[in-house]
Amino acid sequence: MPEVLNRLHKEHADLSRLLDLLDRQLALFTAGGAADYDTIGAILRYCLEYPDAVHHPKEDLIYDILRSRDPVLAAEVGDLEEEHRSLAEATRELAELIERALAEEPVDRDHVQKLTHDFIRRYRHHIAREESHMFPAARRVLSDRDWAEIDGQLDGEDDPLFGDAVADYFRALRDDIDNLAALAQGD
Ligand SMILES: [Fe+2]
Ligand SMILES: [Fe+2]
Repeated sequence: MPEVLNRLHKEHADLSRLLDLLDRQLALFTAGGAADYDTIGAILRYCLEYPDAVHHPKEDLIYDILRSRDPVLAAEVGDLEEEHRSLAEATRELAELIERALAEEPVDRDHVQKLTHDFIRRYRHHIAREESHMFPAARRVLSDRDWAEIDGQLDGEDDPLFGDAVADYFRALRDDIDNLAALAQGD
């Protein structure tokens, strides 16, 4: 499999674990508990710093080539660039709301709950569609030379949460994700 697809697939698995943690925060919140705005804020900060800035642009690059080679198939896959733009917008909107909550400004709990729920649902749907539609279409249409060129353009941008060198400000979040994964495995 092309290196870039390996990476994107791994990042989807990581993102899914991140969404599992956000789901858990939402469940606690929906059950009437206090929201852990620090954790939710860190999750959104990561989405802005890595998926929006690094993961999605790599997919846009693949999608651009797919669209130029087979516009009909690309249209069936959907407008990926538009989805990325609207996901980034939803991320910023929710991140601003959480920032206000962290600054102890009044926020509407129902609104936080609704935006968080929609955010998780959209992200999961987006990832599932890329895995089931976009990646297989790209593998059918792009040539070995295309993949080699894309792989050659991959920068060594480190993932500040799931990479080897975890940024200090994501340390607590990484621990939460690892703990949740350990719980799920019954460790
Ligand atoms: Fe994407
Ligand atoms: Fe993706």
